[in-house]
Amino acid sequence: MSPLDSTIPHFPINTFGPAMKGLVIGGIGILHVFLAQFAIGGGLLLAYFERTAQRGGAGAADARRFVDGFFQVLVLVSFVLGALTGVAMWFTTIEVGTRTIGLMVDRFHWLWATEWVCFSVEVCAGYAYVRVGRRLDDRARMRLLLLYAAAAWLSLFFINGILSWQLTPGDNPLGGVWQGFFNASFWPSLFFRTIVAMALGSLAACVVINTLDLPRERKAALVRRAAHLAAPMVLMPVLAVWFVAVMPADSRSWITGGSIAMTMFVGIAAGASVLIGAYAVVGILVKRLYVNGATATLLLALAFGATGAGEFVREGARKPYTVRGVLYSTSLTPEEVATLRVTGAVADDPYPLRDAARYPTPQLVRGARVFRALCDACHTMAGANPLVELTHTWTDDQLRMNVAKLQRTKGFMPPFAGNAEDVEALAQLVRWEDAGAPATWSVQADPAMHAQITRWLDEVGTLPSSSARRAR
Ligand code: HEC
Repeated sequence: MSPLDSTIPHFPINTFGPAMKGLVIGGIGILHVFLAQFAIGGGLLLAYFERTAQRGGAGAADARRFVDGFFQVLVLVSFVLGALTGVAMWFTTIEVGTRTIGLMVDRFHWLWATEWVCFSVEVCAGYAYVRVGRRLDDRARMRLLLLYAAAAWLSLFFINGILSWQLTPGDNPLGGVWQGFFNASFWPSLFFRTIVAMALGSLAACVVINTLDLPRERKAALVRRAAHLAAPMVLMPVLAVWFVAVMPADSRSWITGGSIAMTMFVGIAAGASVLIGAYAVVGILVKRLYVNGATATLLLALAFGATGAGEFVREGARKPYTVRGVLYSTSLTPEEVATLRVTGAVADDPYPLRDAARYPTPQLVRGARVFRALCDACHTMAGANPLVELTHTWTDDQLRMNVAKLQRTKGFMPPFAGNAEDVEALAQLVRWEDAGAPATWSVQADPAMHAQITRWLDEVGTLPSSSARRAR
């Protein structure tokens, strides 16, 4: 049985105060992705330097010193912080997107298990290297490093198929597992992430090289070698174009101007990546500039910004879905929206509000429950992406209509999954919060207004904006 077959499930709810759920998960996600990609790039980089060391000749001994020094940093940062943020990801996703993560685990069970095996191999190989690496002969060292690098990259390979499926699950999202895994954005995002991983490894290497006690010339030689792995960053715009080309049309429209925040983030991610790649090619390899520790750290921070912007866009482009066409960000299926239009959004929600006593009328309590069910994945009342602020200048009717016609108000919101009373309750709640949460508030129950909201809901229907566009 798939998690989607059951009646609409409800899970215990957590909120994060003024930080909205999407921001919390996005923030931890970006940090985790950054560390994980650093671990992957670091593995490739180490195998490359170890080969240099084993070939002998000038710089071989320095390369060997670097490998041993870098590995300590890699293990500390990626195993400790990477593993901690990875666990934090699981804790937040199961609170914020229980149904989505359940569906993903259900669908890609064995592939996800394989990813975990790869990660375990990576950790064991890395740990073995730290403990006994220096005592091994060349062949054994190389094997251990290659095992580490391959396992790390394979974990990316597997998780990439699962995550890219969320954006481009194809025409038959719940069809064959491999068809879902090798989805339209699988290859561009795998190349994209591999190149970013190599660049992060390379920049971190420049920081570490600067801490080695070597004459500057010999450090410069190591820096130039490390720069080889950052050079492919100049290809990022090509990959970005490929990635955008395989996206669904409406997601593409957010990125190409439809959502100015996303458009800017794409620009920042692509621009910063090109600059880093160009610096590696022109500055380090051609002009033979020396990269000191401060510059390398600065570049690494720039790369962190680029990674963050890229992840923001990847997450944002999926809206209003967590799994395109299958589950909205509100953890509802498109079919369930039609059901909830009749039953109301919160009729079956068993969880009371923590702060019910705050609200002077039952209508406002209902509004708060509707908000929790349908909006708080992407909004707060008065913190990040705040409803009070967004609607402050609107008239009451404008507010009612724009909530009823939510998917047309902004195409990256799902259709409103409740009835006319829910719209009214939510509108009242927003207005009450905007008024400074006074101790008394009148209840709105005008039948003519109720009929008008119902007409708006019927007019706009329950299909997402992407199909509304086509039907127009
Ligand atoms: C999938 C995420 C998502 C969900 C769920 C969502 N919104 Fe939004 N909403 C957004 C984003 C993103 C914006 C754009 C904010 C901006 O332009 O700064 C937005 C904008 C808005 C705006 C301002 C529109 C405008 O034209 O300026 C209103 C009002 C709004 N949302 C209300 C709601 C209400 C009410 C709900 C719940 C019934 C809801 N949203 C659910 C993501 C979402």
